[in-house]
Amino acid sequence: MKVAKSIAVLRAWRKSKSAPVVFVPTMGALHAGHAALIRSARKLAGSRGSVVVSIFVNPTQFGPKEDFASYLRPFRKDLSISRAAGADAVFAPSVEEMYSGDRSVAVEESRLSQSLCGRSRPGHFQGVCTVVAKLFLIVQPTHAVFGEKDWQQLAILRRMVRDLDFPVQMVGHATVREPDGLATSSRNAYLTPAERLLAPRIHAALQSAALKKSPAAIQASAKKSLSAIPGARLDYVEAVDALTLEPLRSRKSPGRLACAVFLGKARLIDNIALPPFHERI
Ligand code: PAJ
Repeated sequence: MKVAKSIAVLRAWRKSKSAPVVFVPTMGALHAGHAALIRSARKLAGSRGSVVVSIFVNPTQFGPKEDFASYLRPFRKDLSISRAAGADAVFAPSVEEMYSGDRSVAVEESRLSQSLCGRSRPGHFQGVCTVVAKLFLIVQPTHAVFGEKDWQQLAILRRMVRDLDFPVQMVGHATVREPDGLATSSRNAYLTPAERLLAPRIHAALQSAALKKSPAAIQASAKKSLSAIPGARLDYVEAVDALTLEPLRSRKSPGRLACAVFLGKARLIDNIALPPFHERI
């Protein structure tokens, strides 16, 4: 497996590869969710294609009070997880390699970024769009795999690819969960043992709310169950249109029930599908 720390080395490696080149961007601290994305990238690439994983804790998507400095960076472990899951190359640049001190150009999505996490994390999605655009231009993948765990991120990046004509096929991957339902996340490491025991109630709250009929009833039920988790502070829970992220008005089009909850030091996000009502059994 090739490990490239500079853009020049990654570009030289990429030049000798032919399609498909399947890309999995990450911030490292890899867990079962990331490994599943890399394995599915491997399947997509087949034996003739290539799989590239990037490991870069992107400073521009963290707010001033967020966990950029303390974000885990277990680089050697990340390399062995990437290798075991089928990566052919890991791109792991430094902050200096990716950003000039006097940078003045960014990529901004102005509609889908306004709601959900965008409301409580101003500038976050501009940081995400800018770094993913840069990574796409460096890696030049034919396909890129992203987790549905970050549904808003996936929706915004699909919009960026559409509106800026990136020649990249976006592939969504289902959320990987612990056996008790908690979505796998590097931020789960911030939970105390007591908080860890409470955390699966987030997914359970979304699932039981999704059994209600109307978007309003779904939202009210989820809000009630999430607010009842001891010590948790609800940031938001909303039933939204799966594509536009606008408030879901009816169950005729595909929806998503998404939430963010502070539990101790961790801010945990999760979401589930709200399939159109007529398709349900
Ligand atoms: P990171 O949080 O490291 O996530 C990298 C990819 O793994 C994202 O596509 C994310 O949705 C996916 N992922 C994380 N946990 C998952 C889970 N439990 N199940 C399925 N997929 C999961 O998302 C980022 O990094 C960054 O914003 C990035 C896109 C790399 C830009 O910096």
